[in-house]
Amino acid sequence: MAKRGFFLTVEGIDGAGKSTQAQRLAERLRALGHSVIETREPGGAPGAEEIRKLLVEGAPGRWSAETETLLFTAARRDHVERTVEPALAAGSIVICDRYVDSTRAYQGAGAVELRQVVDRLHALAIRLDPDLTLIFDLDAGAGLSRTDARANGAAENRFEQKGAAFQARLRQEFLAIAEAEPERCVVIDAAAAPDAVADKVWEAVAPRLGLTP
Ligand SMILES: Nc1ncnc2c1ncn2[C@@H]1O[C@H](COP(=O)(O)OP(=O)(O)O)[C@@H](O)[C@H]1O
Ligand SMILES: [Mg+2]
Repeated sequence: MAKRGFFLTVEGIDGAGKSTQAQRLAERLRALGHSVIETREPGGAPGAEEIRKLLVEGAPGRWSAETETLLFTAARRDHVERTVEPALAAGSIVICDRYVDSTRAYQGAGAVELRQVVDRLHALAIRLDPDLTLIFDLDAGAGLSRTDARANGAAENRFEQKGAAFQARLRQEFLAIAEAEPERCVVIDAAAAPDAVADKVWEAVAPRLGLTP
């Protein structure tokens, strides 16, 4: 049987540079001959992408926090079954743009405290933890000005609409997760230029993959 792959997740507020760095890391690893699967949440499998639309489009109050948590969990279950587990079983490195820590942070930062619910649903229905999580840390205002500049998808802005104060609470939630699980999580200062951030990403990832930094 092939060696099991490596599951890496990238987390942090909107505009922190997750997608940029995930792509750069994937390219660097592929150049070294590794099989790399890039994926994202919510989504990452056909059914999960349909659930993504329900989650990221529409009015901020479209779902209660509880319903939202169940939709995220359903999408994650599909993604893990159809995309992540098969890739890991085939020995690939899976780089996932957002995963359970985003659900923990968003549901922890909201008006209804659902952190325990997220953790219980994860233990019941998902049961797959990342081998390594990079938490991109950036000031909430800086993140919002980057996403304003990006101005990509007016449609996919249900969470971005929640505003600067929410982004600031989210940042604290991500930092608290990193502090609680220092073995799994590495905080990356995301304020630097893309090349400098990529260097820090490589320093964190390479030794864990048995590569020289
Ligand atoms: N280190 C950086 N410095 C300045 N701008 C950046 C940096 N990294 C990414 N960006 C830009 O900021 C925006 C958000 O980056 P992105 O990777 O999409 O963030 P995220 O996926 O975390 O929301 C994009 O327009 C991207 O080109
Ligand atoms: Mg992104």
